[in-house]
Amino acid sequence: MSAPAEPTLPAPYRIVARRQDSADVFTWTVEPLGEHAPTFLPGQFNMLYAYGIGEVPVSISSAAAGEPLLHTIRAVGSVTRPMAALPVGTVIGLRGPYGTAWPLAEAEGGDLVIVAGGLGLAPLRPAILGALARRAQFGRLCLLYGTRSPADVLFADQLAAWRARGDLELRVTVDRATPDWTDEVGVVTRLIARAGFDPARTTAFVCGPEIMMRFAGEALLRRGVPAAAIHLSLERNMKCAVGYCGHCQLGPHFICRDGPVLAWPRLAGLLDVAEL
Ligand SMILES: Cc1cc2nc3c(=O)[nH]c(=O)nc-3n(C[C@H](O)[C@H](O)[C@H](O)COP(=O)(O)OP(=O)(O)OC[C@H]3O[C@@H](n4cnc5c(N)ncnc54)[C@H](O)[C@@H]3O)c2cc1C
Ligand code: FES
Repeated sequence: MSAPAEPTLPAPYRIVARRQDSADVFTWTVEPLGEHAPTFLPGQFNMLYAYGIGEVPVSISSAAAGEPLLHTIRAVGSVTRPMAALPVGTVIGLRGPYGTAWPLAEAEGGDLVIVAGGLGLAPLRPAILGALARRAQFGRLCLLYGTRSPADVLFADQLAAWRARGDLELRVTVDRATPDWTDEVGVVTRLIARAGFDPARTTAFVCGPEIMMRFAGEALLRRGVPAAAIHLSLERNMKCAVGYCGHCQLGPHFICRDGPVLAWPRLAGLLDVAEL
């Protein structure tokens, strides 16, 4: 979406559909009430404002083209929990898109490995759809996805469709399996050692809890993926989202402006730094 002339002013959007993805995760489809035309890059985020409740950063989970605008949200706290209760038809404020994107064009010509932990699949979904739309431009394509339990698997129908294509190596793992679970069990980082990609010509996109991203980055490095080809998406507390307030500062970076997608060498030593 083209950013509004005033970058901190939300534009009105209506929730036109709502899907419950798991016990605490839901997806909104939103449409602009005015001229705010949707164009964005995979990996970018919007600030969503529920009137009288508050504003939070949320990644865009829809394809960059050809899909309505989607946001997939986990109800965790004082803003996102009341958001979960808003009915279809509610008008919210939306400003964005903000931040850096997954470097899909840079990844073309080589293998692409995508490592998602939990809700991290949502900001990666536009990148996966972008890569599949230009499938011939990539070598091997691997999606390694880990989540808590089978009931927490997001976009299950989409995962099944991706698996059925046959041109994407998809491995899904859960921390706690149920008797009917036929896929993998264990942490997602363990899948990296077995995935079929050529490390020297691989680009990796990683999104999930920070501890998972640190272990995933280290596992990718151990397999021989160049540090500069490993990209993580950081989620730090944000207020302005436009580089004014410093709330999202991590070392020398303002995550809202320099991130959320950053290459591994720029994050060296920073992943252990706690939130402000
Ligand atoms: C760039 C960016 C992209 C994001 N994309 C998404 C997205 O696509 N979907 C989404 O649901 N969230 C996303 N988030 C996280 C989201 O912004 C926070 O979950 C939200 O701000 C929490 O606000 P709250 O007021 O509801 O919770 P708070 O009241 O601030 O927090 C309540 C409790 O939840 C914990 N908490 C806060 N954030 C998280 C979290 N992310 N995961 C687990 N526990 C948390 C807090 O530590 C606290 O204990 C993103 C954040 C950033 C910076
Ligand atoms: S949120 Fe204000 S500088 Fe990043």
